[in-house]
Amino acid sequence: MIHFLQFQLLRKFLQNLKEVFIQNQRRRLLERLKIILKKNEKIGKFNLLCFEGEFHYTPSPGNFYMLSKDNYEFILPRPFSVFDFKNGKIYFLIKKVGRFTDFLFHLKPGEEIFLNGPYGKKIEHFDKIIFIAGGIGFAPLHFHSLFTNDFYFFFGGTTKDEILCHKFIEKNIFVSTDDGSFGYKGDVLSLFKSHLNKIDFKERKIFACGPRNMLKELKKISEEIKIETYFYMEERMGCGFGGCKGCAIKTINNYRLLCKEGTVFLSSEVIFE
Ligand SMILES: Cc1cc2nc3c(=O)[nH]c(=O)nc-3n(C[C@H](O)[C@H](O)[C@H](O)COP(=O)(O)OP(=O)(O)OC[C@H]3O[C@@H](n4cnc5c(N)ncnc54)[C@H](O)[C@@H]3O)c2cc1C
Ligand code: FES
Repeated sequence: MIHFLQFQLLRKFLQNLKEVFIQNQRRRLLERLKIILKKNEKIGKFNLLCFEGEFHYTPSPGNFYMLSKDNYEFILPRPFSVFDFKNGKIYFLIKKVGRFTDFLFHLKPGEEIFLNGPYGKKIEHFDKIIFIAGGIGFAPLHFHSLFTNDFYFFFGGTTKDEILCHKFIEKNIFVSTDDGSFGYKGDVLSLFKSHLNKIDFKERKIFACGPRNMLKELKKISEEIKIETYFYMEERMGCGFGGCKGCAIKTINNYRLLCKEGTVFLSSEVIFE
């Protein structure tokens, strides 16, 4: 009888410990951190921002963060992929499209913003990959490639200014520009197709990120050549963790929340309209 009671007490104690651990993990995942800009470097059309902060959690490929500034001008936080994370510093590659990204472009060393996350499901696949990036889609794929040994990287932009960051990839990188100002003249999918008889693509998986039209076209190509393909999807986001339901995308399994169930989806699941 005493043994049974001891066992029950021990079980309850372990259960409590587990709950405290899970709550702590959740709190950390959703923690709001102040991060301080160390460097704001212009790389062609994009800016690479390096921030320092007291990070409790190391981001993985597939994760993203919500960035914000504590003022009434920017009420909603904005989602950004991790470009790199090393030595207690986080890097974001930014394309200026509106007010918040313009604000980030003009941020000066020593100035601070806030970061929530990491959010999104992490990716576990790091072998035999073909990365295909269009424009700023380079950011999350660059981070993913840092964990991957055996890969080919196809990267396209409209002009040379959009692909200068290709220098961060040291091997097996193929570059295209629409106007032919650098690398292959044409879009990145034509570049990829022109390499199909030169690379061993059969046992590989594709991870792609870029404009919707690019992903829509790639979905057709990957079905034709029968290669498993995953898309890093993008949608406007309000919260980043499933609260606002604003980031739903249409899939073969009904609408799904990009921030919670993605942002990476199998291409065959996504329905483009
Ligand atoms: C998971 C995820 C990761 C992202 N990673 C990066 C990144 O690494 N680097 C980067 O520069 N950007 C990234 N973005 C896009 C970035 O969040 C938007 O560009 C940013 O929120 C725009 O804010 P803004 O105030 O400058 O522009 P706004 O004034 O809000 O919008 C300006 C224009 O951009 C369009 N736009 C805004 N947000 C999006 C979006 N999410 N998708 C498509 N069009 C949009 C608007 O429709 C509008 O036409 C990411 C988006 C998501 C969802
Ligand atoms: S961003 Fe709010 S639910 Fe996805």
